[in-house]
Amino acid sequence: MPILLKNCRIVVNEKVYSKNILIKNGKISKITNKEPKADKIIDVKNNLVLPGLIDAHVHMREPGLTHKEDFLTGSMAAAKGGITTFLDMPNTIPPTTTTAVLEEKRKLAKKSIVNYGFNFGATLNNISDIKKAKNVAAVKIYMDMTTGAMKVEDYDTIKEIFKASKLTIIHAEDINIKNAVDIFIKSFMSKAHVELKNQKFLSNKIKNRLHVAHVSSEKELRYAKNNPIKKQMTVEVTPHHLFMTEKDIQTLGAFAEMKPGLKTEQDKKALWQGIHDGMIDVIATDHAPHLKEEKEMANYPFGVPGLETMLPLLLDAFNSNKISLKKIMQLCCENPAKIFKIKNKGFLKEGYDADLVIADLDKRQAVRNDDLLTKCRWSPFEGKILKGWPVTTIVNGNVVYDNGEIKDIKAKEVQYAG
Ligand code: NCD
Ligand code: ZN
Ligand code: ZN
Repeated sequence: MPILLKNCRIVVNEKVYSKNILIKNGKISKITNKEPKADKIIDVKNNLVLPGLIDAHVHMREPGLTHKEDFLTGSMAAAKGGITTFLDMPNTIPPTTTTAVLEEKRKLAKKSIVNYGFNFGATLNNISDIKKAKNVAAVKIYMDMTTGAMKVEDYDTIKEIFKASKLTIIHAEDINIKNAVDIFIKSFMSKAHVELKNQKFLSNKIKNRLHVAHVSSEKELRYAKNNPIKKQMTVEVTPHHLFMTEKDIQTLGAFAEMKPGLKTEQDKKALWQGIHDGMIDVIATDHAPHLKEEKEMANYPFGVPGLETMLPLLLDAFNSNKISLKKIMQLCCENPAKIFKIKNKGFLKEGYDADLVIADLDKRQAVRNDDLLTKCRWSPFEGKILKGWPVTTIVNGNVVYDNGEIKDIKAKEVQYAG
C-alpha cells in the first residue's frame, strides 16, 4: 500500500527543497512536486527528511551479553535515534569468529526492527572461516585490548587476514594505527616495493581496504591519513570523541570511559577539522552499552551507548553552524553505504529503499536517561539540551518509530555489492 509523505524538506547539494515522497513496496518510488495517489498520507509539516542513518559500528551484545542489550532493544534505540541500518560488531559471547556463530547470530537478529549487517571477527586461527563467511560487511581485527579480549598480536596472522579480507576494520589505538598501516602495506608488497613506498604504485597494486574505527586524537588521525595508502583507507569517528573531552571523566567517571579514551580539547578540534577537510569519512556511534551497576564496579567495563544521541547531537551542531546537513548525510548515510557497499541504501533517491528519518530541527529537548530505549538506560550526554531531534523513523517503508512510540515491525539483513 503506497504511502505519501507530504511537505518534506529535503537537502540536495546544500540546497533545501520542498517535495512529496511516494513510498511503494518498501522503496522510494517518486520524489515529486505532485500529489500522487496513496492509501495513506503522512503530513511531514515541512520537517526535514533525511535518508535513514547507517551506523557502521554497533555492539548489540547478542548472543551472550543480553543483559546489556539485545537485537530488539538495541534496534528500538536505533529507530528512536533515526538509524535505520546498523553493522554489528563481533565481540559477543561466543564471538562472531566462526561461520556457525555467524549463522546463529543471523537468526537472533531477526528480532531487529531496523536493518542490519554483521562484521566478522578475526582470531589467530580462523582464516578459513573468514574466507567462508557469507554476506558480511567487513572483517574486524582488534589490535588493542578492549571489551571481549579478541586482541590479535601476531603480525604474520594480521597479514594473512588483510590479504583474505577485501575490507578490514581495525581497532587500533595510537601508534598501533601506524603499525597497522605498515603491516597492511607489507601484506601486499615485496620488500623492494615496500622501500619504494610510491603512493601511486601502491594504490594501483593494492585493492583491499582498511577502515580505521573510532579515531580519537590528532595523532591517530595523522597516522590514518598521512601515509602512502591513504586512498585505501577510510576513517571513522564517534560522537563522544567529537562532543566530549577527557575533562568529562572528572564529572562522569566510568560513564565517560571507553576505548579509545576521551582526549584533549585540541584533539577534539583536530577531529572537527578532519570532518571539514574531508579526512574523516564516517561518523558511527560505537554504541557499547554496559549496565549502570557494571560501570559502578571497581573494574568497570569500557564503552558508552550512543544510538539515541548521535543524530540529535549532530542536528544540534548543525543548528549552531558547526556542520552542514550535507556533511551529516555524507558521513552518516552515503559514505557508510559506499564503504561497506551496502546495496540500495544511504541516499534519498527514487528506487532506493524507503529507509528515512523525519527530524524536527526546532525541537529543543534535554537528553534524559528515562526516555532511552537502550537496555542500559543511561547516556553520557544526560541533561544536555539539544536542538534538533528525529521524530519519525521509516524502515523499508514502515513507520517503526513515531514521537515516542515504537512499532515492532521486523526489518531485514542488508546485502552488499561485490
Ligand atoms: C567496546 C565494547 O564495549 O564492546 N568498548 C569500547 O570502549 N569502545 C569495544 C570497542 O569498540 O573497542
Ligand atoms: Zn573498538
Ligand atoms: Zn566498538
